[in-house]
Amino acid sequence: MALIHGGQLQQVAKQYNIDQKSWLDLSTGIAPFSYPIPKIPEKYYQSLPQVNDNLAEAAKHYYNAESLLVTNGSQAIIKLLPALWREKNKQSTTVYLPEQGYKEHELAWKTAGFSLCKYQDNLPKLTEIKDNPVLVVINPNNPTGQLHQRSELIKYQEKLKNSGGLLVLDEAFMDVVEPSQSMTGFVNQYKNTLVLRSFGKFFGLAGIRIGFLIGDNAWLTKLNEQLGPWQVNGPAQFISQKAFIDIGWQKQQQQRLSLSALQLRTVLIKNIPDNLINKISGTDLFQTVYFKEGVDVESYSITLCKQGVYVRLTDDKQALRFGLAKTEQLEKLAKALANLSSITSIN
Ligand SMILES: Cc1ncc(COP(=O)(O)O)c(C=O)c1O
Repeated sequence: MALIHGGQLQQVAKQYNIDQKSWLDLSTGIAPFSYPIPKIPEKYYQSLPQVNDNLAEAAKHYYNAESLLVTNGSQAIIKLLPALWREKNKQSTTVYLPEQGYKEHELAWKTAGFSLCKYQDNLPKLTEIKDNPVLVVINPNNPTGQLHQRSELIKYQEKLKNSGGLLVLDEAFMDVVEPSQSMTGFVNQYKNTLVLRSFGKFFGLAGIRIGFLIGDNAWLTKLNEQLGPWQVNGPAQFISQKAFIDIGWQKQQQQRLSLSALQLRTVLIKNIPDNLINKISGTDLFQTVYFKEGVDVESYSITLCKQGVYVRLTDDKQALRFGLAKTEQLEKLAKALANLSSITSIN
């Protein structure tokens, strides 16, 4: 079964019969400003991609990691993990996952036959966690924006270590969190902590498909074997290495994203009637509007689509997640939002 994510503009444009170029696509959490593509030497296209040591060093520095594996995105690891973990610990049968969050985690563990225990905003109680557990934490969460502090996660890491468990931390949106709560610097003394980092979101280059796994060397070797050779193309390695050492650009990006998130939030608050909103939460890469019970959020998303604005309806159909817009795009969003309340009513 393929899951629905944002970013399927081609399909949505066809469905609403609106030319792709006319859309305001806010359906993903990918930065609207992207790292400028440097001039790429031809050899990166001509030869088979070798693991680029300069990239590994630059990535270790950026992620504050002692060792890491370069992958073609977190997604590849998410799919492989359950079967590998089963090989390592045959007694492990239960996985704790956030009720809301990137659903590919759930799909992968479910497909591998694990029993799913869902938790809400708060992690499952330490005293209630079974032996040999897997705990998946998306930090910060997409779409809720919920952030767990490092001090809290360290307690879970200790508990899992003592009960034969695996801690999977998906930090796809951690780049914009200030002060960072990343656990990349805390994996080495714990064999069974894995941290996933996505490159494409913060750097605005989701199309080049590159990501990083931070964890104990035995895990990295095993996953590397499973992935096989030539996973990450040469141009992607070249571009990301340049981006990792470009601290000036990273600072500018942080500032731009936080300003855009603030502008987006302001437009949402101004144009969606107060009495419809339960809360707005998110990160500096997206904002999610949770509506009051009884609001027909799905029909809101359809009305936005009819006006050429594509946002992500959450799986529970209670909320809309808005990716960041550039300043010049905000007017289109504001107009489309202003039309919403006239067509949808609260029961
Ligand atoms: C929370 C989260 N984790 C992981 C991914 C996968 O990212 P990638 O494979 O591009 O690294 C996504 C994609 O949207 C995501 O939202």
